[in-house]
Amino acid sequence: MGYKVVIVGATGNVGREMLNILAEREFPVDEIAALASRRSLGTEVSFGDRTLKTQDLATFDFTGWDMALFAIGSDATKEYAPQAAGAGCVVIDNSSLYRYDPDVPLVVPEVNADAVLGYTKKNIIANPNCSTAQMVVALKPLHDRARIKRVVVSTYQSVSGAGKEGMDELWDQTKAVYNPVSDVPPSKFTKQIAFNVIPHIDVFMEDGSTKEEWKMVAETKKILDPKIKLTATCVRVPVFVGHSEALNIEFEEFLDEDEARDILREAPGIMVIDKREDGGYITPVECVGDFATYISRIRQDSTLDNGLNLWCVSDNLRKGAALNAVQIAEVLGQKALKKG
Ligand SMILES: NC(=O)c1ccc[n+]([C@@H]2O[C@H](COP(=O)([O-])OP(=O)(O)OC[C@H]3O[C@@H](n4cnc5c(N)ncnc54)[C@H](OP(=O)(O)O)[C@@H]3O)[C@@H](O)[C@H]2O)c1
Repeated sequence: MGYKVVIVGATGNVGREMLNILAEREFPVDEIAALASRRSLGTEVSFGDRTLKTQDLATFDFTGWDMALFAIGSDATKEYAPQAAGAGCVVIDNSSLYRYDPDVPLVVPEVNADAVLGYTKKNIIANPNCSTAQMVVALKPLHDRARIKRVVVSTYQSVSGAGKEGMDELWDQTKAVYNPVSDVPPSKFTKQIAFNVIPHIDVFMEDGSTKEEWKMVAETKKILDPKIKLTATCVRVPVFVGHSEALNIEFEEFLDEDEARDILREAPGIMVIDKREDGGYITPVECVGDFATYISRIRQDSTLDNGLNLWCVSDNLRKGAALNAVQIAEVLGQKALKKG
């Protein structure tokens, strides 16, 4: 016996990946519904070798469904997630709406799988921001060994993190650079993204940081350890899929780079590709479609007593969103909603 699963936002970047990953991982599904806005009514989406017709979220009845994996914006989530949760269907949400709610667990299964059990307060579990998810996968095993004091992270985030409109904007602007007849002014992004980088993701905060940077701080504290100090600079780059991060980590205790490499090699969800030669590291185009968080360029920071630098790359639509949501569904099934 399997689960009755709803995918909300099934026509979007994350929704389509959730369908792919449920099929790839052979998640036990008895029945599946693909939902989006009324605009997409009847649009076909793939689920393994099946084709599903998209239904309208606004008229869907969640009664009798086990889990709903949401991947729509916060505004629509605010309207529909409580309806699903109230009907007894556990919501696993990709938006930022519930991430900081003390009554909603924020989960990365490699880091805090047990927190899933806190879903009962609201029948909702939150998925973190894409940049946070891959970063905490990398930090957790190192924190367990040498206690992290402080992290300085710079991100290089792909346009798919801004949804399908972000991908279209990079594609159209890139074509327009070669064919200047058709000008494509910035719309989803604040400046030209083709052949450029933009040090601004989400809205500005009072202290001059951006909300994306604030999310990395707040979410790391909630998922991993409130004592960790973190400062972030989040940058959008002209890459379609795959977020990269340069991490500088300061520990309480000394951690040798070779030991760190061994620890990371053994850790769940991580692949270490770290040869000190041309091409001996991972770039975002190589991680697309994979489950792993890749770590490269592991090296001592000689300006600190206990410091390491590393490079972390992952498919933001997978570990940063859809894969993490499906892993949460798997843990929820194992720990709470047992079937069969
Ligand atoms: N992309 C990432 O790396 C990433 C990572 C973590 C979290 N997230 C979060 O995941 C969510 C989805 O992101 P995405 O990248 O998949 O966006 P997207 O590609 O723009 O897709 C948005 C989806 O939401 C649906 N939708 C929007 N408004 C709706 C409404 N009022 N009612 C029903 N459906 C509605 C759209 O349906 P239509 O096609 O019918 O418009 C579409 O299926 C966002 O909250 C985002 O912040 C994204």
